[in-house]
Amino acid sequence: MSLVRIEASDLRNIESASFTPSLRLNFLVGPNASGKTSLLEAIYLLGRARSFRTPQVNQLIRFGQPALTVMGKIEGDERSFPIGIRVARGQREIHLAGRTVQSSAELIRAFPVLIIQPASVTLLEGAPKQRRQFLDFGVFHEDPGYLDHWRRYVKVLSQRNILLRENRLRELPPWTHELARYGTIIANARQRYAESLEPFFWAMGKHFFSKAPFEIRLHAGWDTTKSLESILQQEIATDVRQGYTQSGPHKGDFSVILADRPVKAYLSRGQMKLLVYALLLAQSRLMEERTGAAGCVLIDDVASELDDHNKQRLLALLGEGQTQYFVTATRRDIIEDSLDSDAAVFQVEHGQLTRA
Ligand SMILES: Nc1ncnc2c1ncn2[C@@H]1O[C@H](COP(=O)(O)OP(=O)(O)OP(=O)(O)O)[C@@H](O)[C@H]1O
Ligand SMILES: [Mg+2]
Repeated sequence: MSLVRIEASDLRNIESASFTPSLRLNFLVGPNASGKTSLLEAIYLLGRARSFRTPQVNQLIRFGQPALTVMGKIEGDERSFPIGIRVARGQREIHLAGRTVQSSAELIRAFPVLIIQPASVTLLEGAPKQRRQFLDFGVFHEDPGYLDHWRRYVKVLSQRNILLRENRLRELPPWTHELARYGTIIANARQRYAESLEPFFWAMGKHFFSKAPFEIRLHAGWDTTKSLESILQQEIATDVRQGYTQSGPHKGDFSVILADRPVKAYLSRGQMKLLVYALLLAQSRLMEERTGAAGCVLIDDVASELDDHNKQRLLALLGEGQTQYFVTATRRDIIEDSLDSDAAVFQVEHGQLTRA
């Protein structure tokens, strides 16, 4: 599945830009503030209906304009279809294959996009929420029932929390039962996903690290030597005191372990970054393997904080497989060695692109 055409208008410094990318490797090259990240934002918006830099998607609208639009054409093995998004202040409209759709879930399924950027290192260094989102994005693409289970879980969780806060203990048992049921399904699905991701993670990690394979250690969100239902029952008194449910997959997390130590504690910053890149590329490879053709991977500021050797290894990796990449760099010489016949270079200046 590839993006074969893209048109963006009034997005950050892009007044109007359109281009026909390569189905494999695309390099966006230009000086600082030329609009490279803005172009990646345009593609990300098409696949996720949100920004990768700000929770306020409105901030992407070009100053002084009422709305932004991004339109794209997706081509897969069997079908091709248009997708589009319009963001006006306080309003978002998603178009998919000629229909207006309400939920971004359909878009996310139709056009999977991953972003790798310098700030991605927070995936392993930051709060657990980001790691849960990483897992959930992967499981969502693997398991058609996952979204529905997740939505039910969230609904039951919020109802149970209301009962806890209002001390309505007699009404609690059926909600506890349902929460445990969906919570266990979610944790099991995440576990299966982590297991299928691990070999891909090793394969990617091997390009940057010579040491023993990394382990993805999942934390379900409760002590799994017991059932979630028994834990929830055991914790009712503290849940009531705190006014919310302490255990369950909404508290899930994972850590990466190397030789029995959590990597977070001792890898260098550059190594952490490479490890996160390996993890994200593994997710995209797994998706490619399972769905036949992955969506696309955006890599912003590819050279940032990587030494020449690792940067070359990373770029060499992008030459494999079927995934479509959009990679930004400030200078052409950064990417020169990885230019093959499948690669396209676009020069970005003042929010405009030209094929170089
Ligand atoms: N809402 C907006 N409206 C107009 N311009 C904006 C808006 N938001 C950001 N900009 C400007 O758009 C320009 C392009 O930003 P962008 O982040 O795309 O640059 P870049 O090419 O990625 O630069 P760098 O190499 O420094 O990362 C910047 O000058 C930025 O200040
Ligand atoms: Mg940038």
